[in-house]
Amino acid sequence: MDGSPDQYGVVGHPIGHSWSPFIHGLFARQTGDSLVYRLHDVGPDQFRSFVLEFFSRGGRGLNVTVPHKVAASNLANELTPRAERAGAANTLAVKSENRILGDNTDGAGLVHDLRDNLSVDIAHRRVLIVGAGGATRGVLAPLLVLQPTELVVANRTPERAQALALAFADLGPIRGCGLEELGAAQFDVIINATSASLSDEIPAMPPSVLGRDTVCYDMAYGRSDTPFVQWARGHGCARALQGWGMLVEQAAESFCLWRGVRPQTASVVAALQRAGAPAPH
Ligand code: ATR
Repeated sequence: MDGSPDQYGVVGHPIGHSWSPFIHGLFARQTGDSLVYRLHDVGPDQFRSFVLEFFSRGGRGLNVTVPHKVAASNLANELTPRAERAGAANTLAVKSENRILGDNTDGAGLVHDLRDNLSVDIAHRRVLIVGAGGATRGVLAPLLVLQPTELVVANRTPERAQALALAFADLGPIRGCGLEELGAAQFDVIINATSASLSDEIPAMPPSVLGRDTVCYDMAYGRSDTPFVQWARGHGCARALQGWGMLVEQAAESFCLWRGVRPQTASVVAALQRAGAPAPH
């Protein structure tokens, strides 16, 4: 031990918009831990070599975001059961003998935010999740555990949604389809897990999925309303939320894996709001 702070970071591409250093900085202040948390903009070609070098230089942990979550699960020497099930990892930690452990804290983060922070019920509700990439993979199992009436995965490329639904069918009532196949069926909760907002787009789904009391939740977030939140509000949705709480909750789960203590999240969500993130409704 040379007394220098433990090294952490987030790796993604693009990464400029990340609030993770701010969040982990507040967690560390709360727990009195001495650590450094940096942003790393790394493209797919360099991802593997970057991660191996980060850990070989003594780095303690990484968060992994778009587009590397599946690559991260392939690279890890070991996976937690929830990362194994998701086939995607958003957290890497160093274990003894330089082995890298992959975890997925996205699902726990989403469920903590929906259930504990926002009081959004999933049990006995019809839930639609839009997108069938790594972000969706990470949250299907924790959502099914909450026993929705039905969980529909809808995707621009229908085959990907169908394949995901098949892979999770042992956990509960889940079905996959294309966006245009959604028809007139309404949902109680609609979650956007696509990366469409990174290119300022909205998944092309019919507004008929929105009912009078539908809650819309965007796993993406921005300083102003995301395109999906704007779309939902524009079609009369009274409760359209961005994923700031999920961001903080998944970070708290990662911090817990790395440091052995789960920090308080409410004060950190409040600090994000003071720093410019919109308040939840
Ligand atoms: P990640 O692992 O971060 O989820 P991904 O595997 O590339 O990234 O998945 C991105 C998801 O966003 C996919 O479901 C993608 O749809 P396709 O499977 O059809 O590619 C979806 N997506 C991205 N841009 C979109 C857009 N403009 N409209 C609708 N869906 C979009």
